[in-house]
Amino acid sequence: MKNRELQAAWKYHDGTKHSYRSVRSSTHYLDWANRPQPFKIYPAVETIALPRDLLQTGVAALAAISERVPLTNVNALPDLRELARILFFSAGITRQRKYPGGEIYFRAAACTGALYEIELYVVTGELKGVDAGLYHFNPADMSLGLLRKGDFRGNLTQVAAMEPTVAGAPATIVCTGTYWRNAWKYAARTYRHFGWDNGTLLANMLAIAAASGLPAEIVLGFVDAEVNRLLDLDTRREVALCLVPIGRAPESSLPAPAEAPALRLETIPFSKREMEFPAMLEMHDASSLASEEEAAQWREKRAAAPPPASAGEEVRLQPLSQEEQPADTIEQVILRRGSTRTFDPAASITLAQLSTILDRATRGLPADFLVDGAQLNDIYLIAHSVHGLAPGAYYFHRARKTLELLKQGKFRAEAGRLGLEQQLPADACADVFFLADLKRILEEYGNRGYRAVQLEAGAIGGRMYLAAYALHLGASGLTFFDDEVIDFFSPHADGKSAIFLLAIGKALKRKAH
Ligand SMILES: Cc1cc2nc3c(=O)[nH]c(=O)nc-3n(C[C@H](O)[C@H](O)[C@H](O)COP(=O)(O)O)c2cc1C
Repeated sequence: MKNRELQAAWKYHDGTKHSYRSVRSSTHYLDWANRPQPFKIYPAVETIALPRDLLQTGVAALAAISERVPLTNVNALPDLRELARILFFSAGITRQRKYPGGEIYFRAAACTGALYEIELYVVTGELKGVDAGLYHFNPADMSLGLLRKGDFRGNLTQVAAMEPTVAGAPATIVCTGTYWRNAWKYAARTYRHFGWDNGTLLANMLAIAAASGLPAEIVLGFVDAEVNRLLDLDTRREVALCLVPIGRAPESSLPAPAEAPALRLETIPFSKREMEFPAMLEMHDASSLASEEEAAQWREKRAAAPPPASAGEEVRLQPLSQEEQPADTIEQVILRRGSTRTFDPAASITLAQLSTILDRATRGLPADFLVDGAQLNDIYLIAHSVHGLAPGAYYFHRARKTLELLKQGKFRAEAGRLGLEQQLPADACADVFFLADLKRILEEYGNRGYRAVQLEAGAIGGRMYLAAYALHLGASGLTFFDDEVIDFFSPHADGKSAIFLLAIGKALKRKAH
């Protein structure tokens, strides 16, 4: 079983670390003339136009990101409008901006480099307004392209080793990653970005599904080659990353697996030339599940890691009360969100705001690899200007809802350095670092645990983005110097690996002339 040959994940992780030297010695450059198209287009398939007048759920964003729809909600069947709402608020175009070389179409969720390498497919049975089929979502014109006619939910369920949420779902969304669309800029580090960018998108998707009263879960237990074959993917260029079963159908409605021959459908090339990065193909292969038995084993829930003892002074989280929390709806917040480009270094946030963000974002993701409420990533932070919290470095005790002071001090310069020498983390009010005990995670989950930990960080980071914007604050994902982050938080973080970084603060208001 390749998934158990753990040197593969270490090789990829260590080989794609950023350091002061690696960033300076990189020979990779941006070939603007060969910039990839941000959409996958099937020119010759039948399409269904998705409704654009999307009824809003009216559910408060802070509730939508943190509350689950119980699976007992039987007969939760999305119709075309609800499906369109989920797709649009996960991956739809929410803003556009001209730049000298063309136009950037910004999407609902944050994405490294605004390159939007994650594609969405839907495997659905008969729904109100949608025939059973395999569809591809095209956000460029808000349409679904019909790739296969018929009900393929039985196929998906079989290759997900009869995962009950997939078996019971009227529709399952499959998220894929297209290597070149992101690797054009980020080279072999794109495999990490797959987790981050798919994760932020999932934060939106789970929130909108929850707000629509539809249960949804992240499923990583599936036979990779079989899902890729069903989607007819060229796996050197695009691979399935996760399944998200949506809703709950009556048990009797699952059909037997159907014939799904190769399609070889025409698609428009992303670029004139594409480069391949073997490190990523190797990492993907080594973290693939090869059989239904392996997929079933993946699902066996692991015990959550015991919380560490606390050695330092602890500050209790003080989230805003229900009455104090803004009621801005999840749709309003997604439309308002955008990564802050300049933080105001003179601004501050309150401990109540920071507490609300941490509390709401870390109540546990619905995922097939997590026991209820467990989390793979550990959360550390640097507070620069948080009213009620002394400046310094902290560890977040999730179970106790406290922040343990690791070292007190003003660390703006250090934060700027850790965040790849950018100004954003130095000017933010707080920087949230996601670190993980990769050794333990890989031993328990195999190489696929690497996918899970990156994806989880992206999804929790995505929830933090939404919580920050619900509170009318700003946020931005960031990249970092891996080993320097660990050094900064050590000895507490000894032996851990840096996974993700998010800065939270207030946008600098431009002065009117
Ligand atoms: C995981 C992650 C890492 C990011 N890293 C950086 C970064 O290092 N520097 C930066 O300026 N922006 C960074 N961004 C912000 C993206 O550039 C931004 O999400 C993208 O341009 C889309 O714009 P939007 O978030 O405003 O919709 C990051 C975003 C994510 C999700």
